[in-house]
Amino acid sequence: MAKISDAVISEILSKTDIVDLISEKVSLSKKGKSYFGLCPFHNEKTPSFSVEPERKIFNCFSCGEKGNAIGFLQKTENLSFVEAVENLADRANVSIDFSKYKKDNPNKKLLEINQAASDFYKLYLNSTKHGVVAKEYLKNRGISDEVIDKFDIGLSPNDFDLLYKTLTEKGNLVSDLHDLGLVKQGKEENFYDLFRERIIFPIINEHGNVVGFSGRTYIDKKDGSPKYINSPQTKVFIKSNVLYNMNNAINEIKKNNRVVLFEGYMDVIAAYRANVKESVASMGTSLTLDQVRLIKKYTNNITICYDGDPAGVEATERAIKLFEKANMEIKIVLLPDKLDPDDYLKKYSAVDLNKFINNSWIDKIEFAYRKSNMNIDFTKMLDIEHFKKIIFDLIKNSSNTIIESYINRLSEDTKVSVESIRQDFNQYTKRNIRNLRTRNIQKVKIDRKYSVAERNLVNYYLKDFKYVKTFNNEFGEMFHINQMVRDIKMIIEDLHYKNLETSKESIILEEDLLKKMNPDQLHFYDNRVKYKMAELDDKEYRDLLGVIQDYQIYLVIKKLEDEIKDAPTMLEKIKLAEYRDVKIKEAKYGQR
Ligand code: CTP
Ligand code: MN
Repeated sequence: MAKISDAVISEILSKTDIVDLISEKVSLSKKGKSYFGLCPFHNEKTPSFSVEPERKIFNCFSCGEKGNAIGFLQKTENLSFVEAVENLADRANVSIDFSKYKKDNPNKKLLEINQAASDFYKLYLNSTKHGVVAKEYLKNRGISDEVIDKFDIGLSPNDFDLLYKTLTEKGNLVSDLHDLGLVKQGKEENFYDLFRERIIFPIINEHGNVVGFSGRTYIDKKDGSPKYINSPQTKVFIKSNVLYNMNNAINEIKKNNRVVLFEGYMDVIAAYRANVKESVASMGTSLTLDQVRLIKKYTNNITICYDGDPAGVEATERAIKLFEKANMEIKIVLLPDKLDPDDYLKKYSAVDLNKFINNSWIDKIEFAYRKSNMNIDFTKMLDIEHFKKIIFDLIKNSSNTIIESYINRLSEDTKVSVESIRQDFNQYTKRNIRNLRTRNIQKVKIDRKYSVAERNLVNYYLKDFKYVKTFNNEFGEMFHINQMVRDIKMIIEDLHYKNLETSKESIILEEDLLKKMNPDQLHFYDNRVKYKMAELDDKEYRDLLGVIQDYQIYLVIKKLEDEIKDAPTMLEKIKLAEYRDVKIKEAKYGQR
């Protein structure tokens, strides 16, 4: 295998804009000569990852990862050195044939045989009379030709050894077929196919290599053989490392920045039909840490959508623990009535499945709440006490909003008063959660503060028209809290534009304004507006605008409060309340 010359590498590196390259994955901001962002190689909240365009390197002073553009691609896209250089050459429009630099995969032959077997199964499905029957079965399950093609679904014949014969006739070694688990050895030293009369799901890894197969019965076999049989572990099929459909999902994962994890093949296919394409399956076995790492290579966001039966709920709980260890953002979709995603699609529709996955997810606290809730007898005091503690432990480090909503919910479920649950919580956690409602500032007071600010602004409008312009830019000409202020501002605008008709500069005189106002406006102006005319300054003006801005936020908050009251589910209430709290934090002036 030849080596790429240093000259070629430096040429490609010099033509690579490392800031552009890394910006595709990390949002960077410039400070001095370097760029900073959140490190893609470890979890962090404050940026310690820097990119230096001059030296063309990146460096994380927190986790220690560093390197050049090649290293960055290798690490983030799981590429070999040559593949990374090839990728950069492509981007830089440098044309070089890289094939002579690539190391042969030691398992190349085995992977080629698997690919040949997959092609054989596909052909068999698409061009035989058995294939017609199998396709009828697939069609009945909602699997169209397009889906068959997308997932490379095939069919194994019911002959004893047709695959064996076909592949050995093409010169493949029996020992290789045997190592791949495609054939088994019988008592008379003969070989026969592992998969017979089954719909074949090839399992393809993230590099696009067929590593193994699973075959599902589609006609009643009456011999008690299992629904699925699978390739054994082989040199190329290490089950704990593989997720079904990762090959198709990768680009969708990057696009949507999440993975949706299912139990089985049929669920991934149902999700695909429901336009959730960033979907993979752990294939019925317990999720492994390697599979979690594989997912985390592409995204930090996982949605677990296992079957809605008790086994699925247990498996979900185990999966949550693994994803938590990897510090991932976890969402859980709990399907109703013990359905699996494929059943759900069949019972309702593809659109409904899509909506359920995207809108009806819950977080891990809610999941734990529901799971504990399933086993609780609310007539038993001890059960209630136990349940309360489980929930207190779950929520104790959460925001006040979340704590308050679970306290309310506990009260509803256990029929114990909110006040005493809150007291128990405070006692149990040594935290002090006050009734959130006392935090809400009285409406009247808020209104007064905002309208005082708005009235004060009129003094500025009169002093300099630039203040009118700024206000209009930020809030729009029609925005007002008090109609009277709005009307007076309009008179000032009229005066300004009239002035400009006759002279280059417009100085608005108070006496002109007084002449234009009606008695109500005059009264308002004298009593509520005019004040400390001498002390106007830009800083105070900005502060006043800040207060008005808060008023806008306050309107949003008020609207959210109403929506929270009307929200049909606890989850939606929490989501809205969290958004409301963000808004409250945004309000810099009004809520002090
Ligand atoms: N599985 C398996 N062997 C079995 C049963 C299940 O390998 N004997 C794996 C398969 O990967 C399967 C997953 O576990 O996709 C989930 O099992 P199940 O829910 O029973 O299968 P579905 O995918 O729902 O398939 P179907 O709808 O056709 O029953
Ligand atoms: Mn199913």
